[in-house]
Amino acid sequence: MSQEGIRRARGELLQDPGPDGLITRGFLRGLGIGGETVRRRPVIGIANTWSELNPCNAGLRDLAEHVKRGVTASGGLALEFPTISLAEAFTRPSSMYLRNLLAMDTEEMIRATPIDGVVLLGGCDKTIPAQLMGALSAGKPALVLAAGPRPLSRWRGEDMTVERLWPLIDERRSGALDDEGWATLEACLSCGVGTCNVMGTAVTMAVIAEVLGMALPGSALLPAASAQRGAMAERTGRAIVARTRADIAPEQVVTPSAVENAFRAVCAVGGSTNTLLHLQAIAGRLDIRLGDDRLRDISASTPLLADVLPSGRRFLHEFEADGGVPALMHELRDLADLDALAGDDRPWREATALPPADARCLHSVADPAGPSNSLSILAGNLAPAGAILKRSAADPALCHHIGRAVVFDGVEDLNSRIDDPDLDVDADSVLVLRGVGPIGGPGMPEVGHLPIPAKLLREGVTDMVRISDARMSGTASGAVVLHIAPEAAVGGPLALVEQGDLIELDADHGSLTLLVAEAELERRADALRLPEPDLRGYDRLYRDHVQQADVGCDFDFLAGRR
Ligand code: FES
Ligand code: MG
Repeated sequence: MSQEGIRRARGELLQDPGPDGLITRGFLRGLGIGGETVRRRPVIGIANTWSELNPCNAGLRDLAEHVKRGVTASGGLALEFPTISLAEAFTRPSSMYLRNLLAMDTEEMIRATPIDGVVLLGGCDKTIPAQLMGALSAGKPALVLAAGPRPLSRWRGEDMTVERLWPLIDERRSGALDDEGWATLEACLSCGVGTCNVMGTAVTMAVIAEVLGMALPGSALLPAASAQRGAMAERTGRAIVARTRADIAPEQVVTPSAVENAFRAVCAVGGSTNTLLHLQAIAGRLDIRLGDDRLRDISASTPLLADVLPSGRRFLHEFEADGGVPALMHELRDLADLDALAGDDRPWREATALPPADARCLHSVADPAGPSNSLSILAGNLAPAGAILKRSAADPALCHHIGRAVVFDGVEDLNSRIDDPDLDVDADSVLVLRGVGPIGGPGMPEVGHLPIPAKLLREGVTDMVRISDARMSGTASGAVVLHIAPEAAVGGPLALVEQGDLIELDADHGSLTLLVAEAELERRADALRLPEPDLRGYDRLYRDHVQQADVGCDFDFLAGRR
């Protein structure tokens, strides 16, 4: 972009005494904004993913008003604008399929419009990663404000969080959950606006934004629709004005150290596997790459510190009461790089908080909530470019396991056969689902958490080794190997697995191995034929440019600096 182009796409356009300035101010005054106000600087955009097609983000309209109050109080001019919004529950074939489209929407709106800085209002799983990807590429000062977790609900006399849904669906399939229970479950699945109320993808992404220095310290865990989150929104408005006046671009904040800190935080909270994909895609916008060896080192040296659902037992509000992310960063002080910037532009070493003496959820490195390696990075002849296992949520007895493959080609095949009484499967089998990766899915639908066959459920089996090129919900658990790369749809070795082959998972050694002779695998690879579908529009763009899971599934032409 030319210097003139950059000038035009900043708020100084509103100061222009010539025709361009007059036209820009004139149209803004059409909103009823006064002549003095349209000349205020800096101009802060508020990128809002509020949508009735995204209930998790439904609180963002109110939060935008609080942000505006903070911007105005600091002398700035706040201008809110919409982008597309992606809800997990409503977006087909998967919200991940459209994440890069939201990132492009966000990037181009930030770049094209006369704003100096931006507040990104996101929440549901893909919205914050997409907004960060776009904002990093656009390069203007930016801060995230997350929607915050929704309130707990009550079901049959107990506090209910969203991760309880998965075992209840299994109970329904095995016949243990009656019609009345099934009907009442619907009414309390989502009690109010806000994101899923455990350390699933949405909240883990809010934690990542905070650790990266792209959201204010202390903001990630505050409840949705609370006075505290409203006040945090106002502070975010003030902080983005300060960050914009200081001209602190995202690339000064999101450094390699900050990215490592973010992955370390994910390990310490037993966060969602999805967030590693997003973190790689975010970092990739600045040519930062966390290689498998570094990921393994960080995971191996970081114990589980937060005893929070779904990896642990406690609720998010208990983590928040223990001091949230600033207290987590205090506990990580000897492992993380505290020279990295926090969202208030101080180094993290000045932004950490001491947890209370009676902390219930947050543990110390000396007395952790669980062992290190909560996220195991796997490799082997079945996953040459890697795979991931959320070990903190798996049955430890299955973390080293050899079993016979039971293979499903895609979701339809899975659904039509998984509960077949004649399915040749036992508790030691390894369930294999393929054709559900970035291209095969497309968009890596959250189906990697394959259901346990109903006949085994009735025998009391609660966990099995399951492997796929898909993702799973950040709220799910089990011995589930995900994100196998390269995926089956591009001819990855997963495509070569046959019924009854032996597969070995060894999480201690980080390996996933298909125990079939090399010559036989070469024979199978030679016989493999991959379809070349005739596509148009976004389907075409997506298929031609999406990258594999190991680099976070960004489009090849979006990765890297300009
Ligand atoms: Fe939107 Fe979980 S479904 S945050
Ligand atoms: Mg989710």
